[in-house]
Amino acid sequence: MSPELNELYVRLADGRRHNGAGLADELGISRAAVWKRIESLRRIGLPVEGTAGDGYRIAHPIELLDADAIRQHLNAPSIELEVVGAVDSTNARLAARTPVHGHALVAEAQKAGRGRRGREWLSPPGGIYLSLGWHFESGLAGLSPLSLVVGMAAARTLREAGADAVGVKWPNDLFISDAKLGGCLVEVSGAAEGPCQAIIGIGINLELPESSALDQPWTCLSRHVDGFSRNRLIAGLLTRLAEDLPQLDQSGFDAFAGQWRQFDALAGRKVHVSMARGENFGGLAEGIDDQGRLLVQHGDRIQALASGEVSVRGR
Ligand code: BTN
Repeated sequence: MSPELNELYVRLADGRRHNGAGLADELGISRAAVWKRIESLRRIGLPVEGTAGDGYRIAHPIELLDADAIRQHLNAPSIELEVVGAVDSTNARLAARTPVHGHALVAEAQKAGRGRRGREWLSPPGGIYLSLGWHFESGLAGLSPLSLVVGMAAARTLREAGADAVGVKWPNDLFISDAKLGGCLVEVSGAAEGPCQAIIGIGINLELPESSALDQPWTCLSRHVDGFSRNRLIAGLLTRLAEDLPQLDQSGFDAFAGQWRQFDALAGRKVHVSMARGENFGGLAEGIDDQGRLLVQHGDRIQALASGEVSVRGR
């Protein structure tokens, strides 16, 4: 976000009505220039209501990102925090840098947020868009359960914030009652047996306009929890990851596998599986194995899936 856009954004973030003339005076620009900047904010997804005459407002105030507030609640000395305005994608930004170990990038909004499987991730101002770079000694071969560890870390943090019903749909989609609350995009690179690095991206819907059209049922945290803090949640996510990632690297997935049951949003449910190579089948989800693969019973056998798209078919 340019400094010019940011100075308007921070004023509107309070959720109050601001009239066009007042904003023009405060910012030292014309009313037409205010309107132009309002249009730019709308383009990055800020739902600004109103007109220059009636005044402009957003329906729900936004807690602005505040690096000091995040650091105050962050219990992870190994993490170096960077807070930015609107960027294309925090994952893409981190991936373009070296080294990234311990670097956390958090944005107000994303203009080209990336989801899993090449999908877009809707990222209007006010949500959580966080990426963390991490170096692993264990090699790519040992990192296949990383996605699940990240999903559980996010779900645990959300539960601690009051969203008791958050579950993880394998491997790391965050769900409340069959509606998607957030997701994780874990991108790994490096050697199969040697050192490697991951860019761990987490996106959480905190407040989405009712009209948001997504490709699946969605929800946002404000519908489930009153009075959460965006900055505290970010601190909580990073603190949890800074604890769990070294444990995974040093001791493997064993300690985490036993926790999966507490979060498993698919357990015992009828699912539909689409594999990358075009194979599709239905079955019953039966938890995970010790490598984090999803176990699906179909016919008289149980198949262990390392990847694939899974959707729920009913109770
Ligand atoms: C999914 O499809 O469920 C994964 C969504 C991941 C979104 C996050 S937001 C922060 C980071 N930057 C991105 O571009 N994507 C991830």
